[in-house]
Amino acid sequence: MRLAVLVSGTGSILEAMLGRDLPVMLVGADRACRGLSIAHDASIETILVGRDDWVASGTDASGRRGFDRDGYSCDLARRLAGAGADVVAMAGFGTILADSFFAWGSGRYRGRVLNTHPSLLPAFPGWHAVRDALAAGVSETGCTVHMAIPEVDAGPMLAQQAVPVLDGDDEAALHERIKTVEREFYPATIAAFLERCGQERILEGQPR
Ligand code: GAR
Repeated sequence: MRLAVLVSGTGSILEAMLGRDLPVMLVGADRACRGLSIAHDASIETILVGRDDWVASGTDASGRRGFDRDGYSCDLARRLAGAGADVVAMAGFGTILADSFFAWGSGRYRGRVLNTHPSLLPAFPGWHAVRDALAAGVSETGCTVHMAIPEVDAGPMLAQQAVPVLDGDDEAALHERIKTVEREFYPATIAAFLERCGQERILEGQPR
C-alpha cells in the first residue's frame, strides 16, 4: 500500500511517522510549511496544492472571495492518485476535504483517509480543539484517530487515548503533551491499518 501524508504546519507528526519507517511515498500540503521541508530532507516526493489557487468565482454573504472547496478537493485527489497513493493520512492538514475528494475516481479514497485530532472526539471538533478543551475546564482530553469523511472531525474511530489536563496548562503546553502521544499512537494505528488493507488486497487477489 502506498501512503501519502497531508500537512499544513510544523509536521512533527509526519516526522514521527518517518521515524517509525512508515512507507510514506508522498507528502502533500495546502500551503508552504515546515512539513514540506521535512519531506524534502527525507527525499520524499512533495506536492503543493495551494488553497490560494482555488478562489471561487463571486463573493460570499460577507463580500469575501470564497474558496472552491469542491474544485480543490477534486484536484488534490487527482494529483494524489496520479502519484499512486492508495491511503492518505492527514497530519495537521488545514483544509476540509469536500465529498469530491472521496468520490474521485469511483470513490478511490472512500475508507482510505485517516486523520488524527487532538481531542477525545466527539468532544471538541474543529481547529481549536485544545483551546476549547481548556475553556471547558475538563480534567482530561486526548487524541483520536479516525477515518475521515466529508464531515469535519467525524467518521469511524480507530483509536483514542486520554491525556490529563494539568494545573497551569496553557494551550501550547497541553497541545504539546497531546502531540507527544499522537507521535506514538498515530503511526502505530496507521501501520495496523496498512497491514489490514494489504491483507484485504491479498484476499481480493490484488498485489499488496
Ligand atoms: C496535531 O495535533 C493534529 O492532531 C492536529 O494538528 C496537529 C499537527 O501537528 N490536527 C487537527 O487539529 C485536525 N483537526 P504537527 O503540525 O506538529 O504535526
